[in-house]
Amino acid sequence: MTFAHEPLHLLLLLSLSTCCFSSTSTISSVKPQRLVSKLIHPGSVHHPHYKPNETAKDRMELDIQHSAARFAYIQARIEGSLVSNNEYKARVSPSLTGRTIMANISIGQPPIPQLVVMDTGSDILWVMCTPCTNCDNHLGLLFDPSMSSTFSPLCKTPCDFKGCSRCDPIPFTVTYADNSTASGMFGRDTVVFETTDEGTSRIPDVLFGCGHNIGQDTDPGHNGILGLNNGPDSLATKIGQKFSYCIGDLADPYYNYHQLILGEGADLEGYSTPFEVYNGFYYVTMEGISVGEKRLDIAPETFEMKKNRTGGVIIDTGSTITFLVDSVHRLLSKEVRNLLGWSFRQTTIEKSPWMQCFYGSISRDLVGFPVVTFHFADGADLALDSGSFFNQLNDNVFCMTVGPVSSLNLKSKPSLIGLLAQQSYSVGYDLVNQFVYFQRIDCELLSG
Ligand SMILES: *[C@@H]1O[C@H](CO)[C@@H](O)[C@H](O)[C@H]1NC(C)=O
Ligand SMILES: *[C@@H]1O[C@H](CO)[C@@H](O)[C@H](O)[C@H]1NC(C)=O
Ligand SMILES: *[C@@H]1O[C@H](CO)[C@@H](O)[C@H](O)[C@H]1NC(C)=O
Ligand SMILES: *[C@@H]1O[C@H](CO)[C@@H](O)[C@H](O)[C@H]1NC(C)=O
Repeated sequence: MTFAHEPLHLLLLLSLSTCCFSSTSTISSVKPQRLVSKLIHPGSVHHPHYKPNETAKDRMELDIQHSAARFAYIQARIEGSLVSNNEYKARVSPSLTGRTIMANISIGQPPIPQLVVMDTGSDILWVMCTPCTNCDNHLGLLFDPSMSSTFSPLCKTPCDFKGCSRCDPIPFTVTYADNSTASGMFGRDTVVFETTDEGTSRIPDVLFGCGHNIGQDTDPGHNGILGLNNGPDSLATKIGQKFSYCIGDLADPYYNYHQLILGEGADLEGYSTPFEVYNGFYYVTMEGISVGEKRLDIAPETFEMKKNRTGGVIIDTGSTITFLVDSVHRLLSKEVRNLLGWSFRQTTIEKSPWMQCFYGSISRDLVGFPVVTFHFADGADLALDSGSFFNQLNDNVFCMTVGPVSSLNLKSKPSLIGLLAQQSYSVGYDLVNQFVYFQRIDCELLSG
């Protein structure tokens, strides 16, 4: 594997995992219950940088730009492992990662809330720390390790009870595809979650990266990244080996029940389908698509991962848009055009001509539009109603939230199931048995 263009991923340290990370096993012995974090997205009134006069069109253009960048980033990671001479350079910068959904977790004593990107495609937790260069546009308070009574740096030589005369901290670096970086040192501190009974639960000694130097000068739009893949250092692995997130209505800026549950209380309900992890991403086995009762004529192998690790279907929280294999996207678009008929004139978005858009209003004109269902192995389904399958761009244009993989010139051509497609679902991950669960639910019901 080359990590040269690998954002959100630790460059160093494969050797460290053997030396230092194993002692964090204290975390798993805590067995916390229903650790919950509200999830907040940039279009929400609850987001500290909420822009009231940003239009739906502004948001969607940023979302598309971000999703394309995310897709390019995923591609770069897959390609990095496919070919050693990787001439394709993905561009995804931290400012774009801030366009996606974020968890609100608190670190230290006293606990300082941090908005961190929920990323099912990476493993480590890192946050910006003071003193910090280039963190000017962070959200809320920065975490200051020197002010936390429970913080301890991770030293190259372990310290005994008397403490260290000198701690030589283990450095931490993440490098993004656009060469921007975050670097600092590794440390441990308490992470505080809310519990469903309005209390809090403390997980002591969580290993995380403390970023003192953010190598970029644009608004990052987040305070760090919460990696939730199945890597050994991911909080998802450390806390009970299961987690779930519930995504409600992303178009409603006042909706406040999107949430992440880590550990024992995770919502593993509904239909399940097996997943496999490659390059740190969760791959699921997609078998087909229906529009209403009509099953589209898609050969079963279309979504399969090929022997050379191209293709396949990744379920992702970093992209809002869904990207499907071109032949499937063509079939699906054709079916949608047939259903909409002549009454809906087609249009496109200037910067993203591959988006299929139509004149009309989802709430006014698409009442009774059939549900689009993604079918997965073992009978699990993800049903996209018109509010998930389409997005209202402005008063009289709506667009499909599904694009073709060729919209970017990718070689590895994975399909990607984005966040809009996961609306109205609680999606649960069982890392031990490798199943993902889809439960159609009103997220508010999980908050009780
Ligand atoms: C948003 O509104 C504020 C005042 O309400 C105004 O100062 C600002 O220029 C507006 N921004 C845009 C992008 O329209
Ligand atoms: C994050 O959680 C803290 C503690 O519960 C709360 O005070 C803060 O307002 C939350 N931040 C956001 C942006 O919701
Ligand atoms: C990143 O840095 C490398 C090595 O310095 C350089 O070759 C490459 O062009 C840079 N990439 C970008 C996107 O700036
Ligand atoms: C991978 O294999 C498929 C067929 O199995 C082939 O069509 C495709 O070109 C290959 N891609 C790469 C990048 O080698």
